[in-house]
Amino acid sequence: MSAKKRVGVLISGRGSNLQALIDAARSPDYPAEIALVISNVPDVQGLARAEQAGLATTVVNHRDFPTRQAFEAVLDEALTGAGVELLCNAGFMRLLTESFVASWLNRHLNIHPSLLPAFKGLHTHTRVLEAGATITGCTVHFVRAAVDNGPIVAQAAVPVHPGDTEDALAARVLQAEHKLYPHALRLVASGQVHVEGEYVVGMPQAEGETALFSPPLPGTF
Ligand code: GRF
Repeated sequence: MSAKKRVGVLISGRGSNLQALIDAARSPDYPAEIALVISNVPDVQGLARAEQAGLATTVVNHRDFPTRQAFEAVLDEALTGAGVELLCNAGFMRLLTESFVASWLNRHLNIHPSLLPAFKGLHTHTRVLEAGATITGCTVHFVRAAVDNGPIVAQAAVPVHPGDTEDALAARVLQAEHKLYPHALRLVASGQVHVEGEYVVGMPQAEGETALFSPPLPGTF
């Protein structure tokens, strides 16, 4: 198999999606390895997870920099220095400038806990419940300068149950996120999919009409 893609993961907190990527990358046939984990917040759980897995970590605290550009210059230097080829936002809570986004264009993924383009932004699950939606989900997409925008790599649908609280719904969606992100990163890192225009092409076809994951998780349906 060809060399694994070197992945940088940007986090700001808990790092459960980072953990899902760490676990997936342990598999010998996984096409990506995590070269560096960067947090913009010190002492977060995600950093402990990375250290526990023996991964290189760096804190680049945005509060230490006078401008977004200065923060991003250090971020970029750390990523480039670690030979990072693909970047994954995993609960990374900073807005990025157009220039940073352009320099990682089509090499940069984000996960958002809704079926984009619905419910972009913060407080997603509260707004899903307020809207009375019966199906929600999560999306992995290539990053663009506009928040929660960009070509969609993969989505998973998750039911909203009657009487759901925000926490209950968030927990159900998070379980799907932990399957979806490794799946999407595999598709991108292996070169099975790529961006053409503003769309991701090369998707494996979903088997059956009721696939929950699109594209499907191998062997699930
Ligand atoms: C996830 O729900 C992710 O979709 C959103 O922020 C949350 C991060 O959780 N962008 P974790 O830090 O990965 O546990």
